[in-house]
Amino acid sequence: MKIAILGGTGKEGKALARRWALAGNTIFIGSRQREKALRIAEELSQEIRGGRFEGGTNEEAAEKGEVVVLAVTSRGHRGLLLQMRDRVQGKVVIDVTVPLHPQNPTRLAFPVEGSAAQEAQTLLGPDVNVVGALHNLSAHRYDEAENPIDCDALVCGDDAGAKQVVLDLVRELGVRAIDAGSLENAVFLEGMTAVLLGINRRYGVKAACVEISGLPHVLKPVGTRLPGTQLSQKSH
Ligand SMILES: NC(=O)c1ccc[n+]([C@@H]2O[C@H](COP(=O)([O-])OP(=O)(O)OC[C@H]3O[C@@H](n4cnc5c(N)ncnc54)[C@H](OP(=O)(O)O)[C@@H]3O)[C@@H](O)[C@H]2O)c1
Repeated sequence: MKIAILGGTGKEGKALARRWALAGNTIFIGSRQREKALRIAEELSQEIRGGRFEGGTNEEAAEKGEVVVLAVTSRGHRGLLLQMRDRVQGKVVIDVTVPLHPQNPTRLAFPVEGSAAQEAQTLLGPDVNVVGALHNLSAHRYDEAENPIDCDALVCGDDAGAKQVVLDLVRELGVRAIDAGSLENAVFLEGMTAVLLGINRRYGVKAACVEISGLPHVLKPVGTRLPGTQLSQKSH
């Protein structure tokens, strides 16, 4: 799969890029600045032997990706959507954006459409399948050697086929992926991140996450071997 990550130069984008590349995907890093994207793609290529990384503008990335991930700050979300609309028609767009309040990251500033993912769906139109995912998993977790990651990722969207594509991609990150229903539920998934950030602060940890119990039949994550670690499988 060719996965374009818009804002792939940031913490979240780079962390996703590493793990997806390790699973055999080609990653196109997008940025507002072409040079910056090329530099990050080169750095990632050095880091992940055999990983396939390309870089370019967000526009180039949006055009080249089969699946397009929005990994920009919430401040840049709306503008990027308007800019990318024509280039992502007919594609699956994964929105990981959490609309955190710019002055207080344990509070949220939801857009008028309801959630960031719903804003994306509204602005991109009905021919784009927006799927909300990965909001509740800190980038720190992907960067750790932990494999599979001891967290669940909740995935929501209105198109069953698109959602399945994303559930499979999430498993490739080494995370258990759970179908969390329609895109309307993105408001809860995005909102949960603010709760987790508050928990991090109160308990002095970096990356609290969620795990759903009572789902023995959910597929295990695909093992991802990070450099210097052993492949392992957790038992659920
Ligand atoms: N970090 C996490 O643990 C985490 C976890 C779950 C979800 N998320 C979500 O993932 C997204 C990215 O988070 P992050 O931590 O990676 O953020 P970040 O490192 O602060 O920024 C990501 C990228 O956003 C781009 N950007 C910044 N301002 C922009 C603007 N005004 N317009 C367009 N692009 C802009 C920048 O790319 P260029 O300068 O190269 O264009 C930057 O590298 C956020 O929406 C966040 O809520 C993050």
